[in-house]
Amino acid sequence: MNSGESPPAPTVVVLSGAGLSTESGIPDYRGPNGLWRRDPDAEKLVTYSFYMHDPEIRRRSWRMRRDNPAFRARPNSGHEALARLERSGAARVRVITQNVDGLHQLSGLPDDAVLELHGSIRSVECTGCGARSAMAEALARVDAGEDDPDCRGCGSILKSATVMFGQSLDPDVLGEAVRLTQECEVFLAVGTSLQVQPAASLAGLAARHGARLIVVNAEPTPYDGLADQVVRGSIGQVLPPLLDALRR
Ligand code: APR
Ligand code: ZN
Repeated sequence: MNSGESPPAPTVVVLSGAGLSTESGIPDYRGPNGLWRRDPDAEKLVTYSFYMHDPEIRRRSWRMRRDNPAFRARPNSGHEALARLERSGAARVRVITQNVDGLHQLSGLPDDAVLELHGSIRSVECTGCGARSAMAEALARVDAGEDDPDCRGCGSILKSATVMFGQSLDPDVLGEAVRLTQECEVFLAVGTSLQVQPAASLAGLAARHGARLIVVNAEPTPYDGLADQVVRGSIGQVLPPLLDALRR
């Protein structure tokens, strides 16, 4: 690098969880008002074996999808602060999200800056032929009276393009997430209880590879002891100043 060139912008990786979207009106899972707290049965709706074998579970899933607040949600100040940091060029921002709501992309982060570890509710996939289609299309069929729409191509069961309990993550997506974690300078875990593997293990991997590990969460996580910095508070309030400080 000759003297005129400025050093490359640091890579900032953000592992985001459901806590980033609660201020957009989407409940999390394990927080005080989390879905799994309020209705332990709800986990069955996102467990692959139950979903595939029980038509009643599928019918409840399709009703929940239709009423999912994520489809009406807007990005909040936490999402926007991340998009601002990426646009500023002060850092190369890469988001590894456990969220399936698509709010990072809606906030303006380019698609190639977002890795959806757990997939997305905005698409539907066929469990038989793998065909992908828009969730809006399947929900229109539900609204028209089909309570468990099947694949128009092969007649198999349709599911949202999310990773359900009992399914494995897309190896390419996970591989890219590991690569980014190993090479980043700063790793922020934002709004995640860091209790679900393999996503949570990325925090430990980052620390082992010398990244500065920052945990931003309302409640304690198993990785707080490993973190260089733990920021307690409401993400919409604490994340923007934290990211703005990274721009200096
Ligand atoms: N500000 C700060 N922290 C918050 C806020 C907020 N506004 N809202 C919630 N939190 C915190 C909660 O205290 C909780 O510790 O965010 C965390 C969310 O944790 P989880 O509900 O466990 O969500 P997440 O870590 O994303 O879950 C991981 O589990 O159920 C599966 O596939 C699902 O992707 C999900 C995975
Ligand atoms: Zn099919």
